Amino acid sequence: MEFNCTTQIKTNDSTHCIVVPVYDEGSLNTLATQTNTTLDNQVNKLVSTLSFSGSNSDCSFVPSTDETQSSLILWGLGKPEDLSPESFTKSCNQLASTIKTSKISAASILLGDVDKLSQEHAAITIAQALGTSLYSFDKYKSSEQNKTVAPAITLVGDEAHQSQISAALEYGKALVKGVNLTKDLGNEPGNVCTPTFLAEQAEAIAKGDKNFSCSVLDESELEELGMGAFLSVAKGSSEPGKLIVVKYQGGAKDQAPHVLVGKGITFDTGGISLKPGAQMDEMKYDMCGAASVLGTLSAIKQLQPKLNIIGVIAAAENMPAGHASKPGDIVTTASGQTVEILNTDAEGRLVLCDALTYVEQFKPSSVIDIATLTGACIIALGHTTSAVMSNNEELVNKILDAGKEASDKAWQLPIWDEYQTQLDSPFADMQNIGGKGAGSITAACFLSRFTKAYPWAHLDIAGTAWVSGGKDKGATGRPVPLLLRYLMNQLGE
Ligand code: BES
Ligand code: MN
Ligand code: ZN
Repeated sequence: MEFNCTTQIKTNDSTHCIVVPVYDEGSLNTLATQTNTTLDNQVNKLVSTLSFSGSNSDCSFVPSTDETQSSLILWGLGKPEDLSPESFTKSCNQLASTIKTSKISAASILLGDVDKLSQEHAAITIAQALGTSLYSFDKYKSSEQNKTVAPAITLVGDEAHQSQISAALEYGKALVKGVNLTKDLGNEPGNVCTPTFLAEQAEAIAKGDKNFSCSVLDESELEELGMGAFLSVAKGSSEPGKLIVVKYQGGAKDQAPHVLVGKGITFDTGGISLKPGAQMDEMKYDMCGAASVLGTLSAIKQLQPKLNIIGVIAAAENMPAGHASKPGDIVTTASGQTVEILNTDAEGRLVLCDALTYVEQFKPSSVIDIATLTGACIIALGHTTSAVMSNNEELVNKILDAGKEASDKAWQLPIWDEYQTQLDSPFADMQNIGGKGAGSITAACFLSRFTKAYPWAHLDIAGTAWVSGGKDKGATGRPVPLLLRYLMNQLGE
C-alpha cells in the first residue's frame, strides 16, 4: 500500500476522496476549515444535512456526483479534549472500514493539528490502521474479481510538519510491511508453510542486506547441541525440524543484542495426545510467534536502527506417528535438565526451551519469546490482550508501555515460585504440563527454568495472533506493533 505526504489537496478528481476530520458537533481544525473554504462550504453543509455528529464512531462516505470533483469522507474524531491514542485508533479503524467499502482508488487525509496527539503519532496510527485493515489474503482465490485493491493514501499536513510526518510514515510503512508479512505467513496453509518454508522466508529477509545474516540448523546439528526436547517434537513428522537464526547488526559489534525467539510449530495436531477435530485447521497458526519475529525483522530491515537484533525460530511440525513421542517419554534438553513428556500437545515449551538455551551464547541485553503457547491464555485474557510473563520487572514495564503506545496491548501474569511445584515429576527434573489451574503461568514457569542467564519475557499470543472461525478468520499480525515499538524505544536507552 502506498503512503505519501504533501501540503496540497486534489479537489478535482472523482476517483479520489478527501478525508476531512470533524470534531464533535461539527467543529473543524485549521486545515479542515481552510479546505471547507476551498470547497465552497461543502463540509459544513454536509455536516448539517447528514446530521453528522463527529463522534469517533462516525464516518460517512459522500460520493461525488460531478466527475470533476473529489468525493468526501467526513471522519469523526470525537471531542478534542477526549482525544487519546485509544480514541484515535478507534477513529482510524472506523475510517479504514469506510474506505474499504467505498472502493475509492486514492484518498487524501487531512491531518493538521490533532490537539493532544502529535502529528507523528497520528501519522503512524493512520498508516497502521489503514495499511493493516486493507489487507487481504487472496492468493489462493482463482477469480481476480474478488480481489481487493488497496487505495493510495496521502496525508495532508502543513509545511512546518512535512519532515516529521514523512519520517513517521517511514515507520508506519515498515510496520505495515512487517504486520502484513506476519499475516501472510500465518495464513499460509500447513502444507505450504513448513519448517523448511519458514527457513526460506528468513533467508529471503536476510538476503542482499549487509547488516543481515541467516543460518539454518538442521536436525543433525540440533542433535550435536543436545536439543533432545526440540527433536522429540520434530521426530513425529516427515517435515524436518529447523532452528532458524537471523542476525541483524545495526549497532556496534560489542553492543549486546536484543533477541526475539518465536514458536514455529507449522501445524499442531497435538501429536499422540491428539487434539479434537473441531477447528483443528486453526493450528496452522501455531507458527504465528515465528511469523511475528520475521515480520518484525522485515520492518527492522527497512528502518535500519543502530541496534543489534537476533531472531531465532524453533520450527517443527507436531504430528502423531509410529516414531512420535509418547506420553511418559523422558528427554534431555540442551541445558542438561530432563523432562517427562506427559502430554505431547504441550510441544511449544519443548521446542522453545532448547531455543532459549541456545540464545545464551549471545549474552543478550533482553530476550523475548513469542508463542501461541496455551489455550488457557484465551480463558484468562480473551482475544484482545496478549499475556506477558517475565523474570525482570523493568523489561515487563517496557513491554507493557510499548504495547500501549502501539495499540497492541499486553498484560502481566505472575510466575511466582509457588507455581513451580506444579511441574514436579516423580521421574525427571520436571514434567511438561502443570495440571489443572494456571495453565499459561505453569507453561511460562517451565520456560523460566531455561532463561536464568538473561532478562527474559514470554509473550503468550494464543488469543491475539489470529481471529477464529467466520468470514473474518485470519492472522492479525500481532504482536509486531508491540515488538517493533519495544525495539525502536531501545534506541533511546
Ligand atoms: N498451540 C497450542 C495452544 C493453543 C490452543 C493456542 C488453542 C491457541 C488456541 C499448544 O501447543 C497446546 O496445545 N497447549 C495445550 C497445553 C496443555 C496440553 C497443557 C493447551 O493449551 O491445551
Ligand atoms: Mn499443542
Ligand atoms: Zn502448539
